[in-house]
Amino acid sequence: MSARSYIIDDREKKTFLLDREVLVSEDILRKEMARIFGHCWIYVGHASELKKPGDFRSRKVAGRPVIFCRDQQGAFHCLFNTCRHRGAIVCTEREGNRRRFQCIYHGWTYGNDGRLVGVPGVDAYAEGFDKSGHGLRRPARFEDYRGFWFMCLDGRAPPLADYLAGAKDYIDLVLDQSPSGRMEIITGVQEYDVAANWKLMVENSVDDYHLPSTHSTWLNFMANSGVKIEPPKEEGLVLPTKGLAVELGNGHFTTDNVNFRGRPVAKWIPLYGEAAKPEIEEIRRELVARLGPERASRVADTNRNLVIFPNLVINDGSSVTVRTFYPEGVGKMHVTAWALGPAEEGENARARRLDAFLTFYGPGGFATPDDVEALELVQQGLANWSDDRWSEMSRGMGKEGEQLNSDEHHLRIFWRRWNELMGAPA
Ligand code: FES
Ligand code: FE
Repeated sequence: MSARSYIIDDREKKTFLLDREVLVSEDILRKEMARIFGHCWIYVGHASELKKPGDFRSRKVAGRPVIFCRDQQGAFHCLFNTCRHRGAIVCTEREGNRRRFQCIYHGWTYGNDGRLVGVPGVDAYAEGFDKSGHGLRRPARFEDYRGFWFMCLDGRAPPLADYLAGAKDYIDLVLDQSPSGRMEIITGVQEYDVAANWKLMVENSVDDYHLPSTHSTWLNFMANSGVKIEPPKEEGLVLPTKGLAVELGNGHFTTDNVNFRGRPVAKWIPLYGEAAKPEIEEIRRELVARLGPERASRVADTNRNLVIFPNLVINDGSSVTVRTFYPEGVGKMHVTAWALGPAEEGENARARRLDAFLTFYGPGGFATPDDVEALELVQQGLANWSDDRWSEMSRGMGKEGEQLNSDEHHLRIFWRRWNELMGAPA
């Protein structure tokens, strides 16, 4: 495929159009595997999932089966879950604690640091056979930022901390919810498939323009519970509070919204009930004492949906959801979502958090089924792409200064970065 641009980005005419072929083409998907998933830092898992030496999780990351584990010394590893003998998956359990992983095919055995430690009938191999050269392979790079572990298949990529750029400030804002700075993944995971291209989930995760129409059921429910949902008269607002779209560098971006929908840390709404008020006030007092009133208000009174390019979303709203998704074909993605909460959180606050994780963000919640429906309708509509080629993404284009969450500024950031990495001529 020759180099070409998939967007029309005309700043003079304030027009931004996206070629719909990028959402339906198998060739483009193959190119994405190499140019996007082969070069970017991709989220693997959170340190809190592996509390003890020997703990492991096996999962797919960017389509690759990997073992995310800790060795006996407690060091973290990301190992390709592929036997060095003839290629079988070595670890077939999803989670557990093991010193050794044994391949069921011929019994080669690996330590939890990836070293090959046992080969049945090793005498049959020639003298030069060196076990130390046959440990499980691993991605070129594996680094963490404050407990969020990422891998990168490109050995020449910049360090993770540089790659994350301004996204680090927003991760810090999430971590500041915990008195000790320790946020943990709460046991359990949500997984679901969506019959839509993976990039539509990136858009949807930050597109606050869709809330009043797609999520009218949820907004009505909120209104009935006593939350004010009418937008103020201010120009361009579609939601009850002002929200911004913020560029964070390297294709990352976030919404940054004044909260109206409640936060377990520490913004009460009527839905939580009167009985919850004292505890939420106490959480607020701790925040203010530790962080000062301004930062405390930033943590509690604003919420954000953060996209770390290309496929990690942290929804820090009525709960904190860590969500990643990966294409399983051009018109299908697999979504995995975990709830994150302060390690020292009390039982009731934890229950409020998990309630929102389930009833708003969950696959059977208020939001996700409607989002999935919308994304699948887009994918179905795109069958006409060759005769109706361009998606219109110019909303808010040309506005100076602050950018609204209900415009498409942040979506354009994603597509510009994607287009550049896909080799579009400058
Ligand atoms: Fe694993 Fe043979 S494929 S031991
Ligand atoms: Fe939505």
